[in-house]
Formats: sequence, structure tokens, C-alpha cells
Amino acid sequence: MSDRGGPQQTLTDQFGRRIDYVRLSVTDRCDLRCSYCMPEGFKGFDEPEHWLNFDEIERLIGAFARLGVSRIRLTGGEPLLRRDIAELSARIAALRGVEDLSLSTNATQLERHAQALKAAGVTRLNVSLDSLQQARVENINGRDVLARVMAGLDAAQRAGFAPIKLNMVALRGRNDDEIDEMVAFCMERGFVLRLIEAMPMGETGRNAEYLDLQPVKERLRQQFSLVETALSGGGPARYLGTPDGRFNVGFITPVSQHFCETCNRVRVAVDGTAYLCLGQEEKFEFRPLLRGGCSDAELDAAIVQAINLKPERHEFREAPHKILRFMSMTGG
Ligand code: 5AD
Ligand code: SF4
Repeated sequence: MSDRGGPQQTLTDQFGRRIDYVRLSVTDRCDLRCSYCMPEGFKGFDEPEHWLNFDEIERLIGAFARLGVSRIRLTGGEPLLRRDIAELSARIAALRGVEDLSLSTNATQLERHAQALKAAGVTRLNVSLDSLQQARVENINGRDVLARVMAGLDAAQRAGFAPIKLNMVALRGRNDDEIDEMVAFCMERGFVLRLIEAMPMGETGRNAEYLDLQPVKERLRQQFSLVETALSGGGPARYLGTPDGRFNVGFITPVSQHFCETCNRVRVAVDGTAYLCLGQEEKFEFRPLLRGGCSDAELDAAIVQAINLKPERHEFREAPHKILRFMSMTGG
């Protein structure tokens, strides 16, 4: 990947932020129904003919990479539900300028995909896991999948993924009493834990279940004698870790403490629409260009134009009622 030279250019938005990271949703389908992500009975999935095919994805991501994006994350919905996901991963990993390819998954299908993904060039995995109790997983995530997720985690470790990050959306009254157990589990298994504040995106993220993670952070700091660690990778998580560096826990606090000043990313939905901010409307549709036979120069110019639309910040706190779209569409 990186041995073929770094990016020739850099992409910078109107606020001076360098954009080097694309989160690409490869399907809006999901086999789970997490309460903070999709509303109950959700049926509004996109039509597959609207989905970018692999050639279109390769061309679009190739253009982003040419312009200075070096890191790509595959998301969904659930990305492992996209047919031939390992082949797509390999095609993206091979693009000039792509230095890091990662994937976020609910791990229900990870057991059978882990090795192929590793071989395809996926370097890092984020796995969603909100509880270690079967009944709670069923309740929060909508399906009884804990055993499959555990098998997926085992397979990922066997395949050699490191680090593996576990993402836990902290929900007041539903799993917040399990945070210490999750810390212990991750310490024992060598996973990086990331605690995430529920954003006001679905039915629940915006209501009473929101948990402010700032006090949790202070409590864990004392209880486990954690220190600030530099493990940031440019992302939104702020990390604490054990002094020996063997365990790290990140806090993703979009609501209690936003991190928009350092936002380095854009999201591309499965239909080729780029969303410039998780909490704002600004978007740019690449599919008409890709299907209309645009030139490479036109595609590059469109990307620059899209990046210029990136707003300064979200307003989750000021306008939590303003739900624009569901996370399964833009991939978290
Ligand atoms: N708030 C915070 N995180 C969310 N995710 C999905 N919906 C939300 C939300 N409303 C994130 C979680 C989950 C991943 C797939 O997307 O981290 O693990
Ligand atoms: Fe699926 Fe992830 Fe949404 Fe849960 S949060 S329903 S696993 S896309």
C-alpha cells in the first residue's frame, strides 16, 4: 500500500481542517436492530441499483486517495453483509495512496470472514459490543447474537487483527452498570475499549438513555489508576490507559464535548452520497457523476467542491431533535 508513495495532494476544508479519512458505507442493510441506530420496524432501505458497484467505488475512492485521503474505513449498515466484501476490501487496499484500511462490524458474521479480510489487507477492526449479557444484547441490539459475536472476536484474534477495538454505546439504565465488566473483559482479552455517548440519531439516542461519559471517565481513571495516553490516531476518541500500555479505553463524547475542530473525515453512503457532517444536512451526490461518464478531472473537482461544503460543527446539544438520517445510512 504505502510503499507506492504518499498522496500527491492534500484536501483541506474551509476551516483549515485536513481531510484524510473516508468512511465508506458498503450497504445500508443490517442483521441487527440496535435501538440507538434504527427505529423500530424500519423499512426504508435503499434499492440495490442505487448502490455504487465495485468499479464505481474503486474509482471514487481512488480519486479521494489521489487527492490526499490515505485512510479508509468500511462501514454499513453491516459491511459484512455486502456480497464479496473481501474482494472489495482488496481492491480498495490496492489503491495508490491508501495506507490504512479498517472495518467496523457488529461481528455476527465475522467468524467466517475474518481470515479473508485480513488477507485482503484490512488492518484494523472495530467491533460493536454493548453488553456481555445475552438478554441485554437481545434487548439493545434486537437479536440474540452474543455467542456469534464472541466467535467472531475469537476468529479475528486468530486471524491476527491487532488492535481490535470494542465499541460500547453507553446507555443509561441499560448497560451502564456493566462498564467495569467490559473493562475487565477487554483487559483480559487485549481489546481496546471505546465507550461512546449515544448521539441523537435514532429513537433512543436522543432521549432519557443518553449517558454523559465525563463522570464515567473520571471514575475509571481513579478506579483503574489510568493515565492519559497518546493513542489517538487523529480520531475523536480521547484515551486513558494503564501505565504499562497494555490496556486502553477511549471515550467518544460527541454530545458532552464535541471534537469538530479536529474533524478529519467525510462519510460516503452506499448510494454515493457524501455526507460532510454526521449531524448536518450538507451532502454531495457522486453517483450521477460516476454514472454520467465524468472525467477524472471532473471527479477530482467535484470532491474539492464537496469538501468545501463541510460545516464547522454539529449541533447535537443545541438541536437534538434535528434527526436527519439514521446511522445505518451513514455508518456511524
Ligand atoms: N450514537 C452513537 N453511536 C452510534 N452508532 C450507531 N448509532 C449510534 C448512535 N445513535 C455506532 C456505534 C455502533 C456503530 C455501528 O455505530 O458505535 O457500535
Ligand atoms: Fe446494525 Fe450497527 Fe446499526 Fe446496530 S448500530 S443496527 S449493528 S448498523
